[in-house]
Amino acid sequence: MILVLGGAGYIGSHTVKMLCESGEEVVVADSLATGFKQAVHPKAKFYKGDLRDREFLDNIFKNEKIDAVIHFAAYSLVGESVTNPLKYYNNNLCGTEILLESMVNAGVKNIVFSSTAATYGEPERIPIMETDKTEPTNPYGETKLSMEKMFKWTGNANGLKFVSLRYFNACGADESGKIGEAHNPETHLIPLILQVANGKRDHISIFGTDYPTKDGTCIRDYIHVTDLSKAHILAVKYLKDGGKSDIFNLGNGIGFSVREVIEMARKVTGHTIPAVEAPRRAGDPAQLIASSEKAKKILGWKPEHDSLEEIIASAWKWHKNHPDGYK
Ligand code: UFG
Repeated sequence: MILVLGGAGYIGSHTVKMLCESGEEVVVADSLATGFKQAVHPKAKFYKGDLRDREFLDNIFKNEKIDAVIHFAAYSLVGESVTNPLKYYNNNLCGTEILLESMVNAGVKNIVFSSTAATYGEPERIPIMETDKTEPTNPYGETKLSMEKMFKWTGNANGLKFVSLRYFNACGADESGKIGEAHNPETHLIPLILQVANGKRDHISIFGTDYPTKDGTCIRDYIHVTDLSKAHILAVKYLKDGGKSDIFNLGNGIGFSVREVIEMARKVTGHTIPAVEAPRRAGDPAQLIASSEKAKKILGWKPEHDSLEEIIASAWKWHKNHPDGYK
């Protein structure tokens, strides 16, 4: 039985659906601070609570036969982490510390964890490899990197094993169109563009047009949420089969510029989507592209939805029918 923390969030809910549909028994714990109960697959057993609450966690480990944890429960807005770092230290780091205490106490040994490309900071080369330097440029990335280290040292001392998955730009939605990305406030490029297509915003701002890239706008590696879900399931299997603790990048290895993403969204939605050039957003690296060779080789992972058109079409299927998210 797998415990999914943050299973009501964007990537968590997609992973829970995939696990439930593969016949796995799933327990979801979520505080619903940023997640939505409606996003949780009906076959999963749901507990509402916070991972900083030791009693809440101990109770789950006591009542359920958990043999692995997938941990998505964290705050993830880069900008907010800069203005309110302690919120990030408290939830992401203190929460994980309590979780690990509870896991060690319950004798649960395996954890798969959602990490991020933000652990690298400004990349030293492209594509980025797992062995490259990690110098986060914001508290969000810093807390995720510290969480990785907490797993490492707890693993050494208490026999716990972890897989950390460093996602690049998560995007897209489940093919059913019933679950998808819903953040409040929304800060990510693709959902914002689709809000323009939906008539909820007048235009999309292009943050920076003077980057040293082919068209002057930032380049990112957009990876479909379903491919991310698959990686978590493979990582749990890898740990249960005796794999050792490790860190993996997850991306397509292909970069698209902000202008290319907007252009593709125009094509997919048939809407004009006005774009306005704006100054750079603080802290954005010009280019982030993953090397995911390690995940391919060791986990046997292969992204299946690597076309930008398919990614945006899947996101559009969700946003078109749910312009207000889960509300
Ligand atoms: N962008 C715009 N206009 C917008 C929103 C975004 O031009 O209105 C640009 C950004 O400047 C960036 C690109 O679109 O160049 C993608 O921006 P997102 O906010 O969608 O994603 P980020 O690349 O900033 O963030 C992603 C993950 C974070 C992670 C970060 C690592 O979502 O969790 O990569 O740097 F921390």
